[in-house]
Amino acid sequence: MVKLTGLNKIKTAVFISGSGSNLKNLIKFSKMKNSPLSIDLIFSNTSKAKGLRFSSQFNIKKYISSFKDSNASEAKILNLLKKENIRFICLAGFMKILSKSFIKKFSGKIVNIHPSLLPKYKGLDTHIKAIQNKDAVAGCTVHFVTAKLDSGKIILQKEVKISKKDTHTSLAKKVLKQEHKLYPAAIKKIFN
Ligand code: GRF
Repeated sequence: MVKLTGLNKIKTAVFISGSGSNLKNLIKFSKMKNSPLSIDLIFSNTSKAKGLRFSSQFNIKKYISSFKDSNASEAKILNLLKKENIRFICLAGFMKILSKSFIKKFSGKIVNIHPSLLPKYKGLDTHIKAIQNKDAVAGCTVHFVTAKLDSGKIILQKEVKISKKDTHTSLAKKVLKQEHKLYPAAIKKIFN
């Protein structure tokens, strides 16, 4: 695990594929005095990711590589991470699976946010599954990333009640709101 040793914040990259609301939230958190992180790089596997707009908005470097050849993309990212002195990676809606060897190089230094109460509902469509199964609660989890999908050590979880009226869309909204609180709290827990 990374230890915050000096006064400097830990240079961090956020990997996204979509709207980037967690990214925006992490950027805001990183600017707070008590945040252990600074966000110095945004990576996406697609130029269509809406969250890339936060690069210009907050003056943070961005990099895009398609992952069509995942080995080549990972090699390019690793070079860039090294060049930029990035020490920590937050996955936030990143829809590609990182290789074992990539994860090994950043062992204990990659975290992810997942929209379910892991180990329940790994993978996609978590809210649809929760509604179909008539679950009483859903939620979100921040966990360390290991080679096994959505299976690394859990850092923090937050439960969200499912009401009878909820659809998977309304549930996704409720959970996302909690994700925005949970991700910074999990980061504080890792480093403090
Ligand atoms: C979040 O629900 C996150 O848990 C999941 O993908 C979604 C990303 O949302 N992994 P955003 O791009 O951060 O708005």
